[in-house]
Amino acid sequence: MNAIKNNLAIYLEGRKNLQPMIFIHGFPFDHKMWSGQVEYFKEHYHCVTYDIRGFGGSPAGDGQFTMESFVDDLFEIVDTLNLDKVVLCGLSMGGYIALRAIEREEKKFRAVILCDTKSEADTNAVKLNRFAGIKQINDEGVQKFVGTFVPKCFTNEFINLNRHKYEEILNRALKSDPAGLKGCLLAMAARTDTTDYLPKIKIPALIICGSEDKITPPDVMKAMSAKISTAIFLEVPEAAHLSPVENSDFVNKAIEKFLKDKLPA
Ligand code: MLT
Repeated sequence: MNAIKNNLAIYLEGRKNLQPMIFIHGFPFDHKMWSGQVEYFKEHYHCVTYDIRGFGGSPAGDGQFTMESFVDDLFEIVDTLNLDKVVLCGLSMGGYIALRAIEREEKKFRAVILCDTKSEADTNAVKLNRFAGIKQINDEGVQKFVGTFVPKCFTNEFINLNRHKYEEILNRALKSDPAGLKGCLLAMAARTDTTDYLPKIKIPALIICGSEDKITPPDVMKAMSAKISTAIFLEVPEAAHLSPVENSDFVNKAIEKFLKDKLPA
């Protein structure tokens, strides 16, 4: 860990004078899910990852989170590290944070990469599922909840062929603080809908979705992309919900090309 700001664990790679990129992880993971991207981009970009409260090195505190407080945390990182015109990259819950962040202050950002995420707020059915998750954590513990949730984020092929990597990710998620997990579930259930903002986005946007993603499927993301005039949509082969982990080669090259085309030096 390179810095702690306001109890947030932040990790920095790549020289500070390079174009900053911030990567926001999904639920219930931590900054390590981006290691394939950070390794690839750190030579030419200042790569910043961090742990959302309750995950990795960031304590959950009282666990009373909202999507707004997550965006406040992101802005705190941008401001205290003096990052200008950031390329923002978020996956799933990290994408909810990214979308709301650009809706609040697009001028802080130069481009946005949205992986396996969506703009719609939770339907009643999804909210009820989150509340069932909170009950499961209370009644049966983190192990049961995380052990049921995490396999749904990956293709069976990835799990079988990359056991070691999968178990490392799973084991980190199993260490999540129950207060953090429950706080995130409530924050996601209470988040606002950012769909109306999509046509107003002016910065370049890359929309990425695993072809086998069942949580935020390609047709949902394609429809989201169609509402953003600056967007390019790409489906990632051989990947489910954690497409940057499952097919990092494809995702890295796609991001590299997007940045080269859209952010001329
Ligand atoms: C995530 O990967 O961050 C979660 O699947 C998001 C969600 O449950 O809506």
